[in-house]
Amino acid sequence: ETQPDIRKGLVGVVADVSAVSKVMPETNSLTYRGYPVQDLAENCSFEEVAYLLWNGELPNAGQLADFRREEAGQRALTPALLEVIRAFPRDAHPMDAIRTAVSFMGMEDPEAADTSEPATRRKAMRLLAKIPTAIAAAHRASKGLDAIAPDPSLTFAESFFHLVFGKVPQPEVVKAFDVSLTLYAEHGFNASTFTARTITSTGADLHGAVVGGIAALKGPLHGGANEAVMHMLAEIGEPARAVEWLQSRFDHRALVMGFGHRVYKNGDSRVPTMTRYAEKMAEVVGDRRWMEMSRLLAGEMLAKKNIHPNLDFPAGPAYHLMGFDIPLFTPIFVASRITGWSAHVIEQAADNRLIRPLSHYTGATQRSVPPMAERG
Ligand code: CMC
Repeated sequence: ETQPDIRKGLVGVVADVSAVSKVMPETNSLTYRGYPVQDLAENCSFEEVAYLLWNGELPNAGQLADFRREEAGQRALTPALLEVIRAFPRDAHPMDAIRTAVSFMGMEDPEAADTSEPATRRKAMRLLAKIPTAIAAAHRASKGLDAIAPDPSLTFAESFFHLVFGKVPQPEVVKAFDVSLTLYAEHGFNASTFTARTITSTGADLHGAVVGGIAALKGPLHGGANEAVMHMLAEIGEPARAVEWLQSRFDHRALVMGFGHRVYKNGDSRVPTMTRYAEKMAEVVGDRRWMEMSRLLAGEMLAKKNIHPNLDFPAGPAYHLMGFDIPLFTPIFVASRITGWSAHVIEQAADNRLIRPLSHYTGATQRSVPPMAERG
């Protein structure tokens, strides 16, 4: 029997069409609905980008005001969900906490059984609005603190800080955070989005698809890398140790987190923008150490391995400098990527075919079942 053409990890496989975003390895670039992601990050708020991903066009002023009002008005969690969050183990990982909270939101959703497109769009809005509240409530509960009631007068980015810390930082910090949300919002058929589309292809609901997406995003080869980057920088501790530390990773043939990408092999267009905003955070906080270390690591990785950083590399230190605890970094990615996941769920459902590939069997050859007495 000849071995079929197996693409392990589905490398290079084009699994479907999509009009949400275009990933272009030849130019290391990314567009959402035709707009370069770095232009959106600089010139638009995350709410405008969410609207764009869901509707195909940027909102005008009236459409944006409606969108903001709807999102801001649905941030509150039910008392039942707040109670469930308080019952989570104190040392639970925040990605497990948000995965569980979203699963609970699915049962509570007023349109739980309705998988029609209009209902899915309304559910996506509710998830966008409620996910930050749940992330912050779980984070605060793990520290023995009460949840903060959402303030609908704040923008999405401002509200995230308010829900976590009880206050909104200076505008430069909010802008850097908002930029990171736009850069993280969407990225083609990445592992978590493909997971969400696979779940959708069975006819299952949005909450199920998002729970699966969150589970996939947690892994260190995917979203978990932004946390791993900051752990790495903390372990290195000071710029003077960066090059020597990296050499020890090379000696052990170990992965260096925040570097490499399945699609982009010559750099990631999101990195220069995020790096610039991370540098701004270092200025605001007056702590240059992490960015100096990052600069040395990136230079050495390029010189020795010809491997470029991915978005998680500057996002890790940027979030640290904004004051977030490391375990919140990947949940922040969830708060953003819910937009891309939902856009793909809607697209998949609109032109669905069950996702069901084949495997090439390499196990034992066919045999008969032996009676119990004859088994070794
Ligand atoms: N550190 C050291 N070596 C690396 C790295 C790295 N971060 N990334 C790739 N390589 C090496 C890899 O070992 C392989 O070497 P060899 O040919 O000698 O076996 C070569 O580069 C080609 O890489 P690959 O394994 O074929 O790449 P892949 O497409 O299968 O994996 C990846 C892509 C992102 C899983 C991988 O680069 C990686 O594990 N990076 C670290 C984790 C990370 O930062 N993940 C975030 C990805 S960005 C998107 C997101 O946030 O989800």
